[in-house]
Amino acid sequence: MSATISLEELSQHLQQLEREAAGAIQEAQTPAELEELRVNLLGRKGRLSAVLGAMGQLQGEERPKVGERANRLKEQVQHLLGERLEHLRSSQMRERLKGERLDVTMPPSAVLPGHRHPLVQTCEEIVDLFAGLGYRVSEGPEIETDHYNFTALNIPAHHPARDMQDTFYLDRGEGRDQTLLRTHTSPVQIRYLEANPPPVRVVAPGRVFRRDSMDATHSPVFHQVEVLALDEGLDFSHLRGTVTTFLRAFFGDLPVRFRASYFPFTEPSAEVDVQWRGRWLEVMGCGMVDPAVLEGLGIDPGRWSGFAAGLGVERFCMVRHGIDDIRRLYTSDLRFLEQF
Ligand code: DAH
Repeated sequence: MSATISLEELSQHLQQLEREAAGAIQEAQTPAELEELRVNLLGRKGRLSAVLGAMGQLQGEERPKVGERANRLKEQVQHLLGERLEHLRSSQMRERLKGERLDVTMPPSAVLPGHRHPLVQTCEEIVDLFAGLGYRVSEGPEIETDHYNFTALNIPAHHPARDMQDTFYLDRGEGRDQTLLRTHTSPVQIRYLEANPPPVRVVAPGRVFRRDSMDATHSPVFHQVEVLALDEGLDFSHLRGTVTTFLRAFFGDLPVRFRASYFPFTEPSAEVDVQWRGRWLEVMGCGMVDPAVLEGLGIDPGRWSGFAAGLGVERFCMVRHGIDDIRRLYTSDLRFLEQF
């Protein structure tokens, strides 16, 4: 700037500075560029400072006018810088979000999709078939008492039938309250009837426990599904019809036979076989609910009758899939499980 400067010249400088600043700010592409501009325009050695420095050469009364303009220009530039910075930051954020967007509908590539265990699938299929026949689903506790697991099912203390099921006893309670791991799902029959007056149709899936050592056909923990129907006028033909319908739905059109058997809580009782690959295979126990069981519950056996059945889920699963060893269902070997 020359040694003497007119008001006119200074005003022109300011005007030019204003135009250039506005243009440069709009073109800045990064916060760093904006900061550089700010130093360049407003900094101590910046262009506005230079204009203000030249103000000393003006006449006294001219100085406030230029000073005022310079101040307004400073504020304006600060405002434009702020706006541009804001704009750059939000578009930067938009870009980042675009880059980081996840398509949650994409199929997984690195991770194998999970699926349900074959035992769970079998259990659900069995329960679904009964649900289709109008049965409700219920469950009972795995820790049971002597009363529900045995006595209420017409298996009194010292009854030889208790030996059919080697029991894990727990060290709480005694007499009817003695706790144990349930040996079958049949106690759910009692619990359900206590809470729901007949007519009832219910299935109860669940885990059961017996003191067996593990081998190809035994496991100390396995699964059963209990079936119970109680109504007026139910007889053995209803049992036969229901069980046969269910077995055909599950296994296909196989020969089914009923063999007389014994369970303390049913009379008469039967075991059911299906002919599978040329052999008769036992798949479930069943029978007409013993009147003594109903009497224990305060239900009139003269009016209500029904049938019960219990089946082992592992057996159904193994037959369906041709699995030769029950231990395969419990060792969590992915090479095995991925086949289902
Ligand atoms: N609870 C018996 C068991 O585990 C199976 C069973 C047989 C259940 C006959 C029933 C039934 O409901 O009627 O060996």
